[in-house]
Amino acid sequence: MAQASGTPDVPDLGRRQFMNLLTFGTIAGVAAGALYPVVKYFIPPSSGGTGGGLTAKDALGNDIKVSEFLANHNAGDRTLAQGLKGDPTYIVVEGDKTIANYGINAVCTHLGCVVPWNASEDKFMCPCHGSQYNAQGKVVRGPAPLSLALVHADQSDDKIIFTNWTETDFRTNEDPWWA
Ligand code: FES
Repeated sequence: MAQASGTPDVPDLGRRQFMNLLTFGTIAGVAAGALYPVVKYFIPPSSGGTGGGLTAKDALGNDIKVSEFLANHNAGDRTLAQGLKGDPTYIVVEGDKTIANYGINAVCTHLGCVVPWNASEDKFMCPCHGSQYNAQGKVVRGPAPLSLALVHADQSDDKIIFTNWTETDFRTNEDPWWA
């Protein structure tokens, strides 16, 4: 008798487990569906809407306006901005007070310190191990093995747009080591 009364429980249990599974699956499905726009929101668009470019931003994360920038900077200035992949990148003001069409990645090619611009020496001078780079970021003293990486810096709508530099490095006439 005990066996008879226990027997119906077996399929019941199986069914309950199955129902639990179904319910869980449904909840998980609904949750995933609800989360999708949230997750998508946090994934930055890979193109940035400018063909792989990124608008140069100041230290506060605001877009740099070319007109304001040039009003506050002098010929020869090298000014750090937030660049591609978050790399600190120098905006170069040329002798004629225009913004150069290239930017210089400030990450030292030795061990990755951010290299400050030394205006009086007209060089980038790394405080970590003494590497030096000329005003265009070409390495002139080790231990850094390579010049600072370049990016394109084009202007659009009063903003500076950084894009990857994949062409020949104009300072060395070599293929870019960073591309
Ligand atoms: S990290 Fe710049 S010289 Fe070593």
